[in-house]
Amino acid sequence: MTLNFALIGTGGIVENGHANALAELPSTQLWSILSRDVRRAEHLANTYGAASPNPAYDSLSSLLSDPKLDAVIIATPDKLHREQAVASARAGKHILLEKPMATDAEGLEAILSACSQAQVKLGLCYRLRWHPVHREVVRRAHAGDFGKLRHVRTLWTLQEPDASNWRASSELGCWWSLAAVGTHCIDLARWIMIPGSGEVSQLNSIINRAVWGGPHDETAVLSLQFESGSTAEICSSVLFGSPSRFEIYGSEGFAICEDTFGREGAGRAWTNNGEINFDQRNPFAGQLDDFAQSIMANRTPEVDGIEGAKNVRLLLESISA
Ligand SMILES: NC(=O)c1ccc[n+]([C@@H]2O[C@H](COP(=O)([O-])OP(=O)(O)OC[C@H]3O[C@@H](n4cnc5c(N)ncnc54)[C@H](OP(=O)(O)O)[C@@H]3O)[C@@H](O)[C@H]2O)c1
Repeated sequence: MTLNFALIGTGGIVENGHANALAELPSTQLWSILSRDVRRAEHLANTYGAASPNPAYDSLSSLLSDPKLDAVIIATPDKLHREQAVASARAGKHILLEKPMATDAEGLEAILSACSQAQVKLGLCYRLRWHPVHREVVRRAHAGDFGKLRHVRTLWTLQEPDASNWRASSELGCWWSLAAVGTHCIDLARWIMIPGSGEVSQLNSIINRAVWGGPHDETAVLSLQFESGSTAEICSSVLFGSPSRFEIYGSEGFAICEDTFGREGAGRAWTNNGEINFDQRNPFAGQLDDFAQSIMANRTPEVDGIEGAKNVRLLLESISA
């Protein structure tokens, strides 16, 4: 069985991630594309070999009315997610939705309720969970290799040239560094900590907007405490570049992943017992494969709407704390 997917949005993450993943998996194919500019949709449909005889759209309702379309990947600015996801669910299409799921609590509830009513699958794009070395570190952590997990530290930053990015404005975004990269860090910390430590029970934040003075975070520093008392530190920024870090400390060992947050599934990782060797794999393909399997086997995707909503609630708390 091959599932037909539409791409909603034609930006960086579609061209560098989702389009190739759709081509890589035998169970999925690119069927159609939505852009505000139908010529751009046509261009991408040709470039990536979209299979529909009529693959290019500039109207969401027309794209969704295609009975041969099974699912959509929504990769547009954050404030558009709610309307596009609710419309897709009402049209009976399964949804793989880019993070952050929505930008307010009402948006989260609207998406969850529309998907539940339509009985469509909702998966959230936290692709770092499909990096092979992250999966290995988490497997070892949950098997007890590092003892009781006490602390996690993540650092992910990039240097933006100016404040022209849509995430910097309130029209299309709600957070800047926190939505671009920080939400992935929150998800990683929760993924590794929750089985042994419970949910996040306390969050404190420092939000810096001092360089461009806009409405959204430029650097964010979060400290989290889990129900067990274990802790996490998260730093995201658009003000400086750095090698990304994902550090896990337990009562009997540690693991450190460096430069593993890129889109290629690369980087290196080591523990107190030495280097972890791994084969580089496309994390977008792993993420999509899990979502496609969830549709075919009628099961919940690994990162579902409930998880996506919990990650967003922590983002909302970060800027109100
Ligand atoms: N999981 C990850 O690692 C990852 C990485 C990057 C981004 N993302 C997420 O993916 C989503 C898109 O991010 P991106 O970096 O791909 O953004 P982007 O490069 O700016 O692309 C966004 C696309 O959305 C479409 N769009 C529709 N209405 C728009 C509007 N009013 N203004 C601007 N664009 C509009 C545009 O396509 P048309 O011009 O063709 O209409 C545009 O190409 C965001 O939710 C982001 O958080 C995830």
